[in-house]
Amino acid sequence: MSTKKIAPGRKAEGVVELPGDKSISHRYAILASLAEGTSELQNYSSAADCQSTLECLKRLGVAMETKERKAAEGEVSFAAGESVKVLRIGGRGLDGWSAPKRTLDAGNSGTTLRLLTGALAGQRFESKITGDGSLRKRPMRRILEPLRMMGAEIDAKEDKFAPLEIRGSRLRGIEYATPIASAQVKSCVLLAGLFAEGETTVREPVATRDHSEVALREFGARVAAAKGVVRIFGRPKMEARALTVPGDLSSAVFFLAAALILPGSALMIRNVGLNPTRARILDLLIEMGAGIHVASVQMKEGELVGDLVVQNEKGDALKGGKISGAQTAEMIDELPMMAALGPYTEDGVEIRDARELRVKESDRIATMAAALKAMGAAVEEFEDGLRVAGRGAAKLKGAKVDPHGDHRIAMAMAVAALGAEGETTIKDAECVGVSFPEFFGLMERVVEK
Ligand code: S3P
Repeated sequence: MSTKKIAPGRKAEGVVELPGDKSISHRYAILASLAEGTSELQNYSSAADCQSTLECLKRLGVAMETKERKAAEGEVSFAAGESVKVLRIGGRGLDGWSAPKRTLDAGNSGTTLRLLTGALAGQRFESKITGDGSLRKRPMRRILEPLRMMGAEIDAKEDKFAPLEIRGSRLRGIEYATPIASAQVKSCVLLAGLFAEGETTVREPVATRDHSEVALREFGARVAAAKGVVRIFGRPKMEARALTVPGDLSSAVFFLAAALILPGSALMIRNVGLNPTRARILDLLIEMGAGIHVASVQMKEGELVGDLVVQNEKGDALKGGKISGAQTAEMIDELPMMAALGPYTEDGVEIRDARELRVKESDRIATMAAALKAMGAAVEEFEDGLRVAGRGAAKLKGAKVDPHGDHRIAMAMAVAALGAEGETTIKDAECVGVSFPEFFGLMERVVEK
């Protein structure tokens, strides 16, 4: 396991283009495999999580290959003739997956495991799906309950953890009000709804990311959605598509934060996904005083995409902020970075109503609190969140930090380390590959030391 040393940075400058959005990549791959014909996906995420989805699909008999093509004249993001990678997925139709010979391995990816389980519940074969040590500790009853209501037969360890053993069965549409604000739970039920007889409706307490709804429509499924309620009509015929995955906004936030921490910074991040169910984090940063501008916004294949410009010429500290209620679900993956920005703000950052953070890749409340304290931050931990005091209370100092194998914490702390005094060491830093293998390379390119 590798450690990574982070020296303080001077400023962040330049233009970056990010790998494809992780959430959208999973959905495009799964739906492409269930559609008829060969789909072509451009800018598919390089995240290990998204590769886990592809490996599972291969075990279900789905053929795929990565091809290179030459960019055409005037193509956005590429010079004419530049080579562009395209992932081709051979769709097998709604009933085309075959029984896997071996256990499906979702690795560290909750999205892979929860979404695929929804689709596996409606198959005519048995399958088993598991994941790494972290994923095997994460709660699965949240998907077992609605799937069983649909008629699914699933056994789980202690009736709540992976491995899951799924005996595919005929499913019926249900109306389900999920008690948890989770796009993974919603998407699991919608994918099961693809195979069910009749209509399946999911109501969520807070509207979560709607990439499944958007992608299902793109592939030709019938979906009706209003804020917080989604209905899918079973057994559609889906057709192959050529789609480009927008850059990952959750990855972009680490670069925005780096620029906001380092005075004199100016960065442009191109072709970022700006889906409104994900982009509330930008409103919050702007409310806190960040110089962030959004340019060239376009709707592409149902998803908003645009360029982000962040400027921090004078190095004024951000105001503090409190994140609570519906906001925590809307910016769930950005909360580690927001906590780590706390010591760089005037009044600190407080995060509440965020119990879900305790069941992520690590207990993100405990891991962030310990990591920030190790660097000298003043942190108060609550059952449902944490409060990190602003710059008057403490200045961060380089330290040894343990992200507990959690990719977003490793990246949040690496960014926080850029503004600290002295060098920081991040333990097992290769875990960033779970969502963003290019993270350290890109940071080194844009941050002047
Ligand atoms: C995701 C949903 C969120 C998020 C995760 C990706 C998705 O999880 O934290 O990184 O792609 O649906 P929950 O649904 O558990 O909140």
